[in-house]
Formats: sequence, C-alpha cells, structure tokens
Amino acid sequence: MNYPYVAQFRQSLVEWFEEEKRDLPWRHTKDPYKIWVSEVMLQQTRVDTVIPYYNRFMESFPTLELLAEAPQEYLLKHWEGLGYYSRARNLQAGVREVLENYGGIVPDNRHEISKLKGVGPYTAGAILSIAYNKPEHAVDGNVMRVLSRVLNIHDDIALPKTKKIFEAAVDELIDPDNPSSFNQGLMELGALICSPTSPKCLLCPVREYCTAFHEGQPEELPVKSKKVKMKHISFDVFVCEDDHGRLLLEQRPSQGLLANMWQFPMVEHNENSFEQFAQQYEVEPQETQDILTFKHVFSHLTWHINAHYMKSKTCKKGEWLTREQISLLPMPVPMLKIWQAIK
Ligand code: ADE
Repeated sequence: MNYPYVAQFRQSLVEWFEEEKRDLPWRHTKDPYKIWVSEVMLQQTRVDTVIPYYNRFMESFPTLELLAEAPQEYLLKHWEGLGYYSRARNLQAGVREVLENYGGIVPDNRHEISKLKGVGPYTAGAILSIAYNKPEHAVDGNVMRVLSRVLNIHDDIALPKTKKIFEAAVDELIDPDNPSSFNQGLMELGALICSPTSPKCLLCPVREYCTAFHEGQPEELPVKSKKVKMKHISFDVFVCEDDHGRLLLEQRPSQGLLANMWQFPMVEHNENSFEQFAQQYEVEPQETQDILTFKHVFSHLTWHINAHYMKSKTCKKGEWLTREQISLLPMPVPMLKIWQAIK
C-alpha cells in the first residue's frame, strides 16, 4: 500500500474501532497484568466464553502478586473448562518472573517481555500495544485473515514462517499515534466483519483499501493447508464408590495433556479393560453399571469415553474423596461431564 492510502487506512480502521468496539471487560483497563490475562485466555478461546472466566479470575486474582501466590489447584479451578491448561501454568510462571526480575512491573519492551514464560510474539505485542500504547505488531489468526485479504497475501498461514510476513506488514501499517486502537481494530475487524466464510464487506470500514474485496473473492483467503489428522482413543472410566459414599480419584501426571488435573481412574479400552483396571488398582472385580458414553474433542485428539460405576471397598491407587472435596478440584471437561451425571 502506498503512502496516502496507508494514512487513510489507519484512520478508517482506528475511527471505526473507536466507534464500534464491543464493550468487553478487559477494555476498561490499561493494567498490563489484566491485559496479559485477557490475551492469554483469548488465545484459542472465543470472546463469549472468556468473559465470565476473566471476570471470576479478576475477582480472585486482582493483582499479579495474588496470582503469583495462588496454589496451582486453585488457579486451575479458575481455568476449568477453558482448555489448554498449560496456558494457566505458564501465566503463573510468567507473573512470578515479573515479581522476581522486574520488581512487579510488567516490562514495556519486546526484548524483556518476550523472555517471560508463555509470552510469545503475539502476547508480547498485544500487551505492549494495548497496555503501553507501543507500536508493536500483534499478529494472530484473525489478523492474518484480515491482512491476507487487504494486502492479497497468498502465503500458507499454517506454516510458522508465514507469520513474519504479516508482522512486517503490521510494522509498516501500524498507526504510530494510536497503536492500541490500530491493533485492536484489526482484531475486532476479524471478529465482527472479516469472518472466515462470509465476510460482511459492505459494512467494512477499509474495503476501499482491500484487494480481495476489489477482486471479488475475499473468502478464498487466507491460504491455509490442512492440519494434522485427528487421533482417536477409547477409554473406560471407572467411578468407584466406597461404603462411606466417597469416590476414587487420581491426579494426572505433572507433564503432558491435562497435567496435574484430577480424574476418575481410566484405562484405554480393550477386551480386558475391566480386569486390567481391577488389577492395576487392586480393586475387587465388581459388578458395574454403565453411566454414560460420549466423546470429547481436544485439538488433535478425540477421547471416546465409556463411564462405568461400581461399588468398591479397597483400592491401592488414587484417593478416596468426599463429594465436597471433589467439587474443589480442577477436573478436565470430560470428567466434569461424568461428575455431573452421577452427582
Ligand atoms: N482476541 C484477541 N485479543 C482480543 C481482544 N483484546 N479483544 C477482543 N478479541 C480479542
């Protein structure tokens, strides 16, 4: 885009954002900690889903210090249902680094902020531009979709190296007088107007400057190659209840999928899953009742769950917990579904 157009593009985008922006809870603050939390939650998760989580999170952890001190299970309980739980653990590690290394002040430059755990190029740019009004790029999938159409960029956005092309484009386009509204304007445009399959070009404030609009097929962009194939695993889950009405739970390992979250014992399904479970956990084989069957889709993995109930006296692994204790533990969504079914 040539100079006079760049200036007009900026102005149209910024004015539109300031007029039309949604009233979202994190738009009432410039506190870099709060912007950080919102941006981490908004990665991979829709705005409508994030709002109640963000509000509850800010009630419990209104400052970086309080988040740094929180027990991990209490933190994860606030993240329960949002998915990608490593985001929460990294966020806590990041705020601890801010307290240890930067006197509790979130750094205001890309070099330092990027050293923080969990802060990648997007989150860094979002905090720097929104909280500190610095002219820094913040390129996520929405921004790549918008700019691929405006600038007619055909590079494959599934390839990590493509992001650099868009970051360089934002570096040229960004409004030096209002980087916060410029970056949020791109995000908002991606969310409200420049949608993946049916962009509302007639309502778009920058359609004059948009190559894909002029060429007539904006929904053909961005180019995105197919991602990896979904894996499927079947599990049998066992809800064991003892004579005191307590249920058997176990904590997942501290590394890997759903690290440190709590679950009812589960074994991968096979012809002998029940015997295998009885052996592994040293429970007396008992009669079981089926509770429910469902599937849960993670990003690249689908769990097919068969949940069973059994009375049980002894068990060598896991912990017998009361219903009250269980309700305080962070559990992944598939386990919450089972928990809801038996409660
Ligand atoms: N998506 C990512 N960041 C966002 C923000 N700050 N506001 C709305 N949607 C977003």
